[in-house]
Amino acid sequence: PRSIFMSRHGESQYNVEGKIGGDALLSVHGQTYAEALPGLIKNNIGDAPLTVWTSTLQRTIQSAQYLPYPKLTWKSLDELDAGVCDGMTYEEIEKQYPEDFANRDEDKFNYRYRGGESYRDVVVRLEPVIMELERQENILIIGHQAILRCLYAYFHNFKQADLPYIKIPLHTVIKLTPKAYGCDEERYTLPI
Ligand code: F6P
Repeated sequence: PRSIFMSRHGESQYNVEGKIGGDALLSVHGQTYAEALPGLIKNNIGDAPLTVWTSTLQRTIQSAQYLPYPKLTWKSLDELDAGVCDGMTYEEIEKQYPEDFANRDEDKFNYRYRGGESYRDVVVRLEPVIMELERQENILIIGHQAILRCLYAYFHNFKQADLPYIKIPLHTVIKLTPKAYGCDEERYTLPI
């Protein structure tokens, strides 16, 4: 059976600073994760063929750099666009845009950042990615938190309202193996 592997990029400099969005490079920890990924994947699939999908953002491309497989970058896999809040911390957003901050808490799935996107927008832009995923063999997606929540929710049939709260930790590979109904799941976390 074929599997869909998904992982967030390794820890980025923005993750360290608590800032959202952006196009930061990996931190030292994130770089260590990138170096450890090929061994983890090889242990799991041996010599089976695999294709790696990344977003166009540096942190995913950097995280995939040591993986010896064909790679494809998808603009549709870029992180949820936080619009005017891009590059801010949650504390800064709460201070500068208190109403928005409260609205997001009220309905996280539908809340759209000023000049940016909502989770609902992201679900729509991921449709072609999901169509292609359904046709492919083994794929490893190196993605972003909000993006992987949407993909994960699709394969596990999560309700929209729950989707923005799914836990997708850093430095963890989630392996989904679709069955007739639903998906088997395994998680591998690297202690980095
Ligand atoms: O903090 C990392 C990050 O990927 C941000 O770039 C993004 O805005 C956020 O997570 C998404 O998580 P949430 O929807 O819970 O704010």
